[in-house]
Amino acid sequence: MTNLSERFRTLRPARKRAPDLDGADRQGADDRASYVSIKNLTQRFPGRQGGTFLAVEDVSFKMARGEFVAVIGPSGCGKSTALNVLAGVFPPTEGVAAIGGVPVAGPRPDVGYMIARDALLPWRRARQNVEFFLENRGVSRKERRARAESLLESMGLGDFKDAYPHQLSQGMRQRVSLARTLAPNPNLLLMDEPFSALDAQTRRDVQEWFLEIWEREHKTVLFVTHDLEEAILLADRVVVMTGQPGRIHLERTVPLPRPRGKLALWLFNPTFRALHEEIWRDLETASLQNNVRAAGADWRASEGDEAGAAPAHLHHSGAGDLPEESPAPLAMERHREGLLPRSRFANPEASWDQA
Ligand SMILES: Nc1ncnc2c1ncn2[C@@H]1O[C@H](COP(=O)(O)OP(=O)(O)O)[C@@H](O)[C@H]1O
Ligand SMILES: [Mg+2]
Repeated sequence: MTNLSERFRTLRPARKRAPDLDGADRQGADDRASYVSIKNLTQRFPGRQGGTFLAVEDVSFKMARGEFVAVIGPSGCGKSTALNVLAGVFPPTEGVAAIGGVPVAGPRPDVGYMIARDALLPWRRARQNVEFFLENRGVSRKERRARAESLLESMGLGDFKDAYPHQLSQGMRQRVSLARTLAPNPNLLLMDEPFSALDAQTRRDVQEWFLEIWEREHKTVLFVTHDLEEAILLADRVVVMTGQPGRIHLERTVPLPRPRGKLALWLFNPTFRALHEEIWRDLETASLQNNVRAAGADWRASEGDEAGAAPAHLHHSGAGDLPEESPAPLAMERHREGLLPRSRFANPEASWDQA
């Protein structure tokens, strides 16, 4: 990790770009208190064929304490990278990430980080997994157990406190994982597609349960998802990222009142629908532009076209002009995540398997 960051430091600074936000929302964002702040974050990784790969470019972003922000964007646009930098998993190539005014220099006890995979310790019972982050923090054994059990009970897992992870369904394991993240009472929660592995009904239950806690405790939450519905239903603000490289493309405040209660009821609300449609269209346009870029790059690579001209069938960027058998694996992934309608591709599953 250190070697990588040292290697990155020797690279030339990235070309600076103005953030891609529209004026009104940028002004709003600037005025917010900045409990969480990312300033001019640029992230490069070693490229597959040598050189470096620009994953995120010049992203700046702030969150007020107690705010719930959802980040949405196609696969590979740098959402997890930004979260990893905030969680202290690796340092930014350029720029600064800070929490509570203190630059992030590694994992912190006041920050909870939850990923899509449940990552439970298989040799520990559910209760012992939830207690994990309370150990060595001066919390008595009795208090640890009480907190773990109360969290598990409120998640509907009261009867499974002593079960091992392999005895639990995926949905249950993910709830144990959420309880484990919440147990130490972190000020900031970084959540990377935390509910994406759950079936629809469990997912809705867990979303409502989580929102109920949030509406009571107002933790600061940065929540990455590729589900636009989830982003709007849960968050105060939705930030749209696009790739590649990853940039912030759009921000929208969610004007739905709280508490939000039964989430399914909002799906028919005109304010919800209008916002959903606006962001959906924006994502779709951005995805299509990326498709065309990625497909063009693949075509150039395969044809060895030095001049870099796009093939004739890619000269127009309208949806109807995309080739039926788009070659870009990135596009397939995006499509698979539900960001593009199925009908755009002749046989998406076959192409995905080949990718
Ligand atoms: N450790 C890494 N090494 C090399 N490339 C990486 C690494 N982590 C992420 N990437 C690349 O950076 C881009 C952004 O990745 P990521 O942040 O995981 O995207 P997202 O979470 O939006 O799907 C992707 O193209 C990914 O392949
Ligand atoms: Mg990710």
